[in-house]
Amino acid sequence: MSNRNELFDLSSDRVIITGGAGVIATAMAEALLDAGARVCIWGRGTGHPVQEAVDALVATTGAEDRVFGVTVDTGAEESVSAALQESVALMGAPTVLINGVGGNRGKFPFHQTDVSLFEEILVMNVMAGLVIPTKVFAAYWIEQKMEASIINLASMASYIPLSGVAAYGAAKAAVMNLTLGNAREFAPHGIRVNGIAPGFFVGNQNRALLIKDEATGELTDRGQMIIDHTPAGRFGAVEDLKGTTVYLASRSASGFVTGVTIPVDGGYLTHNV
Ligand SMILES: NC(=O)c1ccc[n+]([C@@H]2O[C@H](COP(=O)([O-])OP(=O)(O)OC[C@H]3O[C@@H](n4cnc5c(N)ncnc54)[C@H](O)[C@@H]3O)[C@@H](O)[C@H]2O)c1
Repeated sequence: MSNRNELFDLSSDRVIITGGAGVIATAMAEALLDAGARVCIWGRGTGHPVQEAVDALVATTGAEDRVFGVTVDTGAEESVSAALQESVALMGAPTVLINGVGGNRGKFPFHQTDVSLFEEILVMNVMAGLVIPTKVFAAYWIEQKMEASIINLASMASYIPLSGVAAYGAAKAAVMNLTLGNAREFAPHGIRVNGIAPGFFVGNQNRALLIKDEATGELTDRGQMIIDHTPAGRFGAVEDLKGTTVYLASRSASGFVTGVTIPVDGGYLTHNV
């Protein structure tokens, strides 16, 4: 395989992106559509409605006949099983699952932890964000004897605890651990499992933590500390995630790659003193 276009051609792929109406997932969907894939975005129908997200993707990519949307709660197994069947009927059997559901809620010292909120964050990122969709899709693919690829969304907090967001860190460490474990277990079935660990991108989950004043762009102390700690000297732009997404989705490009989590972080993890 030497042709660059063939390496990154996804025209025979069908991708499901959970949390597909989110900020990062939208950029991933654009990249996959540009590479020729069919894409079905899964969203809860609250917060970021699915149909709006589908319409926006059609407007930005022109891929009218290749974008689909399904409403689902990825934290409920029956809902995920039903959504998988609905998606198969809409676009055919998926070949790629992107586990895009996740996020943080608030920031607090550990000794003031709101235990029910801590649990909610764990459930959102680990159960809805990985375990339930991965279980349902892997069972389907194994039964269908299909080769496939899963891409999980990790975080800088998967590697090192970030202050004030212990639940998010614990959950994202679990995401990276499960990426390794699932990769090992599913490899004999031809299912690859990899992750992307975005550095600091301004998303819905962390906007208030990073930006003090949207009008002037003034950063919070935390936002400034992050920039000072990022060798590239800026927050990530969602476009920065597109290449890695297409690479990991493409069996031609990354068919022998499984169990890795790729940081896309402007060098954040390389910083020492
Ligand atoms: N934004 C960042 O800087 C950043 C950095 C590192 C990792 N991440 C991770 O990337 C992923 C996407 O982040 P984002 O900033 O784009 O988030 P976002 O809040 O924009 O999108 C997440 C989406 O998931 C949906 N969702 C939540 N629970 C759901 C459920 N049970 N069922 C169905 N949908 C559900 C939400 O409605 C939302 O549309 C998350 O896993 C996040 O932790 C983000």
